[in-house]
Amino acid sequence: MKDLTPDPSDLEPIEIASRDEIAALQLERLKWSLAHAYQNVPFYRSAFDAAGVRPEDLRELSDLARFPFTVKTDLRDNYPFGMLAVPREKLARIHASSGTTGKPTVVGHTRRDLDNWADLAARSLRASGVRAGDLVHNAYGYGLFTGGLGIHGGAERLGATVVPISGGMTERQVMLINDFKPDAITVTPSYMLNILEQFRQHRLDPRATSLKVGIFGAEPWTDAMRREVEDAFDMHAVDIYGLSEVMGPGVANECVETKDGLHFWEDHFYPEIIDPQTGEVLPDGEPGELVITTLSREAQPMIRYRTRDLTRLMPGTARSMRRIAKITGRSDDMIILRGVNLFPTQIEELLLLVPGLAPHFQLELTREGRMDALTVHVEALPGMTGEDARAKMAGELAHHIKSVIGVSAHVDVAQPGMVERSQGKARRVVDRRPKE
Ligand code: DLL
Repeated sequence: MKDLTPDPSDLEPIEIASRDEIAALQLERLKWSLAHAYQNVPFYRSAFDAAGVRPEDLRELSDLARFPFTVKTDLRDNYPFGMLAVPREKLARIHASSGTTGKPTVVGHTRRDLDNWADLAARSLRASGVRAGDLVHNAYGYGLFTGGLGIHGGAERLGATVVPISGGMTERQVMLINDFKPDAITVTPSYMLNILEQFRQHRLDPRATSLKVGIFGAEPWTDAMRREVEDAFDMHAVDIYGLSEVMGPGVANECVETKDGLHFWEDHFYPEIIDPQTGEVLPDGEPGELVITTLSREAQPMIRYRTRDLTRLMPGTARSMRRIAKITGRSDDMIILRGVNLFPTQIEELLLLVPGLAPHFQLELTREGRMDALTVHVEALPGMTGEDARAKMAGELAHHIKSVIGVSAHVDVAQPGMVERSQGKARRVVDRRPKE
C-alpha cells in the first residue's frame, strides 16, 4: 500500500493547534450556538426554560451538561421546518433521513453551513490521503441522503476530480473503476463488498485497480472488515463518520497514517459521552453514547443531540483534536438475546475468522415458545459449497459466537448469493418476533 500521509503544510492550523486554543474556540462558538438556538428556535427556548437554564449560564465547556438533550423525535415533532433558526428562504438546501417509520427527519443548511461542510468533508478526505488532482469515485447515494452530496462538496473543495456515480448499478461501478482509474473510492463498507464480488465474478483482479484508499462510513464496520477489504484491493481503508442531523459525512474521520480511531472535528462540533441510561456525562475513555452539539451551524443548531451511537473519546494523535473509537453500533441496534447484549459488529468480526465464509451476513430474530432465537445467515464462498463444508463452517461460527459472546445461535450457511446484498446501508437485523 502506498504511503498517503498528507504533507504537514497542507493541514489547517486548527488541526494541529494546542488544546487550549481549541478549547477557547469551542467556548466562544458554544456560547454563540446556545444563544442562537435560544433566540431563534421556540423548541429550544421552551426546553431551556423548562430546564431552568439560559445561554448565559454557560461559562465553561463543562456547563453544557446543565442543558437539556435533543432527540430524534424532537425533529419529527417539529416536522418539517420547526427546528430552523433562520427563515426557510435562507436555506440553500434541505436534506432528510428516511427513518424506518413515519415522517423523515428534515435538516436545513444555509449557504454558510454548506461552505463549512465542504471544508470539513475536504479535511476528512485529506486526512484519508486524498489530494488535489486525485480522482474520487463517489458511490455514496445522491439525494436526500447526505452521503453523496456531502462527499461531493468536499472532493470539489479539495480540488479533486469527482465522479458522482452514486449507489447501485454495480457492474457499471466496476467498469468505471477500471476505465477512469480512480485514486479513491467513497462508499458504504457493505456496498464495497458488493463491488468486490462483481470484480471476482468478472474475473478481474481487485488488487490490480488504481485505488489507493477507500473511505467507508454511514454504517458500523470492524477492523476485521478493514483487513479484509485492504487485502482484497491492496489499498488503505479508513473510517468516516457523520449524521444528517448535525451535518452529514465529515464530522469525524480517521487519519490514513495512523488508522487509530476517528479525529472528531472539534472546531465545529462539541462531543460528549454520556451514560445512555442516566444521561450523566462520562470522562474521556469511558464507553457510552455520543452526544453532539453543533458550534457553527446557522440553519439548524443542534444542542446536545443524542446520536445513539456507542463509542468513547480518546486523546488526539495525528491531529490535536480528540478521537472517537470505531463505533460498535447504535443503542437501537443492540440485540438483547436471553439477557446477553449483542451487536451485529461482533458477528462480523467472528464470521471473518472462519475461512470459507463470505463477508455478507444478516441476523434474524424469531421467537421459539417463550424464548428469543437468533439465526445468523451467512454464505459459503464459491468453492466451499458442499454440504459437509458448509456444516463445518456453521459449527465453527456457532462455536465462536457461543464462546466469545456467550449465546447459542443457529448458523445457516447458504449458497453464494443467498444473503441480501447492500446497495447502501446494509440491513443487518431482521426482527420476526411477534409484536407484544
Ligand atoms: O450516514 C452520513 C454519512 C454518509 C456518514 C457517508 C459517513 C459517510 P445518516 O443517514 O443520518 O447520515 O446516518 C447517521 O449512521 O448516527 C451512525 O449510526 C451511522 N454511521 C455513520 N457513519 C458511521 C461510521 C450518514 N463511520 C448514522 N461508523 C449515525 C458507524 C456510522 N456508524
